[in-house]
Amino acid sequence: MAVLLSGRGSNFNALYHDSLASDSGYRVVLVVSDNKAAPGLLRAREIGLDTVFLDPELLSGCPAFSRQLVKELQFRNVDLICLAGFMRILGRQVVDTYAGRILNIHPALLPAFPGLNAQRQALEYGVKCSGCTVHFVDRGMDTGPIVLQQCVEVLDHDNEDSLSRRILEAEHRLFPRAVRLFFAGNLCLEGRRVRIK
Ligand code: GRF
Repeated sequence: MAVLLSGRGSNFNALYHDSLASDSGYRVVLVVSDNKAAPGLLRAREIGLDTVFLDPELLSGCPAFSRQLVKELQFRNVDLICLAGFMRILGRQVVDTYAGRILNIHPALLPAFPGLNAQRQALEYGVKCSGCTVHFVDRGMDTGPIVLQQCVEVLDHDNEDSLSRRILEAEHRLFPRAVRLFFAGNLCLEGRRVRIK
């Protein structure tokens, strides 16, 4: 699979470490970033993984970026794309070419609090429970069919940092679980519902 990221890369790290287990059923063959200074990209390079930086300035316009991305993915026979903190909306060409084969992780219980600063949105709204969601990616923003969710309780003394930290810990467990289910052929998409075999 390929991991796409724009920043820190802690979810990439969790996925990479899970992939090393003999029973994981998958391998990370490519890490792509739209940010050449992304710590996640640098880490992937250090590990010795194949990495690609796609420069959004050079590939200005979504279609050029998508074309190049699809080329890199197809060249390596990627079966699954994982968006792990990738801060760019995927172009139509990518979403259509890899329909049902792109997973994203979001730090809230979708459909609540889509988009940026989901943890802050949850705190400001005053929910007692938030969490994280792994979902398939469609043409919308954080709208695709939900694969797995994990609740994280919002505590009275929480601020954005403390809540984000606990949600992130849950993300690091949830994303590898979803990827394993995908590669085991255990995710069955029926309309908007994802049945786990
Ligand atoms: C995570 O909170 C993820 O849910 C969101 O972006 C953040 C990425 O963090 N999509 P990291 O780069 O994986 O540490």
